[in-house]
Amino acid sequence: MSWIREGELTILERFCANIIKAGPMPKHVAFIMDGNRRYAQKCHVERQQGHSQGFDKLAQTLRWCLNLGIREVTVYAFSIENFKRSKEEVDGLMDLARQKFSRLLEEQESLKKHGVCIRVLGDLPLLPLDIQELIAQAVLATRNYNNDVSESLLDKCLYTNNSPDPDLLIRTSGEVRLSDFLLWQTSHSCLVFQSVLWPEYSFWNLCEAILRFQMNYNALQKARDSYMEERRRQQMERDQAYVTKKLQQEGFASHGDSWRRRTLLQKCTAMREERIQGFLQALEHKRADFFERLCTVSA
Ligand code: IPE
Ligand code: IPE
Ligand code: MG
Repeated sequence: MSWIREGELTILERFCANIIKAGPMPKHVAFIMDGNRRYAQKCHVERQQGHSQGFDKLAQTLRWCLNLGIREVTVYAFSIENFKRSKEEVDGLMDLARQKFSRLLEEQESLKKHGVCIRVLGDLPLLPLDIQELIAQAVLATRNYNNDVSESLLDKCLYTNNSPDPDLLIRTSGEVRLSDFLLWQTSHSCLVFQSVLWPEYSFWNLCEAILRFQMNYNALQKARDSYMEERRRQQMERDQAYVTKKLQQEGFASHGDSWRRRTLLQKCTAMREERIQGFLQALEHKRADFFERLCTVSA
């Protein structure tokens, strides 16, 4: 039986899901699934049992998301800090991750038919690589083109680049911090902190978080739009300054004629696109090499 698709919503849950779906829905939801050990302690069960129920709760939550039409979910299942836990706990978590995530991936094909795509990300080995490569290569590639380095380039360099930023981020267990999770990508997301422990997370908790997103929707949209507008304005300003400098170097009056200026601006934008594509492809190759080396080492 399918891990994610088994079981449907009750009539009451379906009814409420339909009401909620009448409002603006988050397209991408991120979860920091926290509170497994406190749950185990509270229920007097083994810690590993708490983690196991936590993974099963993820499957259930993905099913709710599917029913609510949320096609993209990113979860924080393990952080580099978590390696500091006892070897026994880390090994137990890794075993669970292997078992449960491979089951998820087995179901990938059937989920694709519903427009759902699952990505299992190993968060931390990639981050230092990205940042190191990014800085080293960007310095080399852009020595003469400072305009290339921008926030939008940084977006494109992150391994989350082919996914929209989360609209809603939920952390359970009452902790009100992000613990390094998607810091850049959630700057305009609705952050919802809920006191429920992750293995006890319910459909109603999810509905409550979505309602909070809906209540803040207009303000979030406004902030996101004005941020994007400001980015575009700054890029345009930098490009204009570059064109002015170029025209001056070529002996034209600082503003040149408008045709020459427009043509140069278009050329400069097209060339930047080309340089950035080259840079991103090189970064992608480095990343693929890194993965290959990692797999060889761990094989
Ligand atoms: C979250 O639950 C799962 C992982 C970090 C792997 P915790 O294990 O952090 O449980 P609490 O927060 O200590 O209760
Ligand atoms: C947070 O782990 C990451 C996950 C829930 C996977 P912790 O629960 O250990 O977080 P901190 O270290 O207390 O912030
Ligand atoms: Mg915790």
